[in-house]
Amino acid sequence: MARLAFGGDYNPEQWPESVWHEDVRLMREAGVTTVSVGIFSWALLEPAPGAYEFGWLDRVIDLLHENGIDVDLGTPTVAPPKWFYDQRPDALPVTADGARLGFGSRGAICHSNQAYRDASTRITEQLARRYGKHPAVVMWHVHNEYGVPVSACYCDGCAAHFRRWLAATYETVEAVNEVWGTAFWGQRYASLDEIDPPRTTPTVGNPAQQLDYKRFADATMRENFVRERDVLHRLAPGIPVTTNFMTALSQCDSVDYWAWGREVDVVTNDHYLITDGRRTHVNLAMAADLTRSVAGGDPWLLLEHSTSGVNWQARNPAKAPGQMARNSLGHVARGSEGAMFFQWRQSRRGAEKFHSSMVPHAGTDSRVWREVCELGSAIGQLGGIEGTRTVADVAMLWDWQSWWAQNLEWRPTEDHDARERADSFYEALYDRHLTVDFAHPEADLSAYPLVVVPALYLATEAASLNLREYVENGGTLVVSYFSGIVDEHDAVHPGAYPGAFRDVLGLTVEEWSPLLAGESVGLSGPDGSRVTGDVWTEFVVPRGAEPVWTYEDGLTAGRPAITRHAYGAGTAWYVSTRLGASDLDTVLASALADAGVGDRPELPRDVEVLTRAGATGRYVFVINHTPDEAKVPLADPGVDVLSGDRVSGRVCVPAGAVRVVRVEA
Ligand code: GAL
Repeated sequence: MARLAFGGDYNPEQWPESVWHEDVRLMREAGVTTVSVGIFSWALLEPAPGAYEFGWLDRVIDLLHENGIDVDLGTPTVAPPKWFYDQRPDALPVTADGARLGFGSRGAICHSNQAYRDASTRITEQLARRYGKHPAVVMWHVHNEYGVPVSACYCDGCAAHFRRWLAATYETVEAVNEVWGTAFWGQRYASLDEIDPPRTTPTVGNPAQQLDYKRFADATMRENFVRERDVLHRLAPGIPVTTNFMTALSQCDSVDYWAWGREVDVVTNDHYLITDGRRTHVNLAMAADLTRSVAGGDPWLLLEHSTSGVNWQARNPAKAPGQMARNSLGHVARGSEGAMFFQWRQSRRGAEKFHSSMVPHAGTDSRVWREVCELGSAIGQLGGIEGTRTVADVAMLWDWQSWWAQNLEWRPTEDHDARERADSFYEALYDRHLTVDFAHPEADLSAYPLVVVPALYLATEAASLNLREYVENGGTLVVSYFSGIVDEHDAVHPGAYPGAFRDVLGLTVEEWSPLLAGESVGLSGPDGSRVTGDVWTEFVVPRGAEPVWTYEDGLTAGRPAITRHAYGAGTAWYVSTRLGASDLDTVLASALADAGVGDRPELPRDVEVLTRAGATGRYVFVINHTPDEAKVPLADPGVDVLSGDRVSGRVCVPAGAVRVVRVEA
């Protein structure tokens, strides 16, 4: 994009045309550069099969263009019209229990359905032909948030498609029987034609089959994205194609974004604060870092977040004054090329009428509107940072497929939660003011002095080799329990746990012993330090690693709990129990010392300092989430981009404010 984007989802079809003129006037007042249009408009654009009504959309796009506003144009394929479902009820998805979902919401799609594929190709072709050369259209927005609300369909059409996917992946039924371990519980298949989706079963279903169905469902959605993308590339060349991701682990768990990141022209993301009592800005930072990583470190765009409260959680608090700008600029600091919202004008009707927006029900004489205008102006002033990249310090491994496998049933304890481990490791690094890149377990890690591995249950041979090489070549690794246990088919790596990481960690694990609810164990370590573990303990047998912390009580008393292994030119740490944030911090401090990574002890908790750097310069973002003024030392002098003031020595950031300094270095 030529400029930082500021704006949001614009749904003019919910309003009389007279309102559109006020909309564009207000958009200009707020500094809006870009809006996403037409995401749910199929029923209006094609009110009857093959009968198109583009006039209203022509007028909307022309009006936006006349006012200098760019369009991110949706393909409306997340919301097929009623006539389509009346013709093809088989396009409605079926749950694992066999219930067919009904019309009247959105996202009711069986992605294997050929009629859906054909109809969505046709509407996409129509839009590409009509608007592909319109100067307002700067990006295509395919579909909406693949994976939510429906992540998989279990209908007979999907069963047939799944069999084709299995044939393409494994070729023979013998191979499927082998990798799914169908010898167990007598599940052997005589032919691929016998295989169904993993529908509801009396007790636990085959885990490898369930894991493959997740892969299949994800790949099936991706086929549909790629099909629409290719139509757009062919008929409207030169316009980047995206689809809005939801990388926050709390918001979508069915999409392997590493794979999707390779298919889009530009990564875009939607992020909403989950108000469950935890620090929302840490969750935001993690989602933004993950999005940037999925984009391979390239700039990406925040396509949706909220100006204030949402309407779909149990409790939906408003954002505090200043919080919206901290959220928006937090995404920008972590690589977003702007900040966009759901949605421009708050709806009067429909399911989302109580969701905040840029123009709220209260109108323009409102705090939200004033803050929207201030933010629009700030983003305008940040022009120049486009294309710069966020500088990261350390890496965390993340793999959606390992997460899927870990979430299957009948694990050693229901208290272990892979996402909780990822959140905690992230939070510990965040509190040390370290910027985190996420990496796929098979990615090149050589740029990072420290790599943390929270509960990477599923690890391939390639990942195993990758981590060995990383440490051999001087890296520092921190691995949590329940990592490196199974291969890509959920089959336990041969020999003692953790099969994939035994060598690099210099140990084996004889047995796990998860703790009962409320139980904890003490661990004693260097210089009398004590930390506490819960949820999980294990019988660790060092085979080269040195015990650093030892279990003091429980079944594993006297055994090593946290170990350190010098391996090649590097070091690998192993943490065999669940540590809370501050105890995890104690262990990470030792690993960071091994890695030679310094942190920022002078920075207060909840003050973020991030750097974006590139051809146009170095920009230091300071985001103060605290109720006190923060004084942050600056290595080099510079200019406060928002005020124009010169800054040197340190930058003072008022409570709840954000400063961006273009430094001279
Ligand atoms: C997003 C979705 C938007 C809107 C928003 C509300 O997930 O893409 O259309 O529903 O949530 O928070």
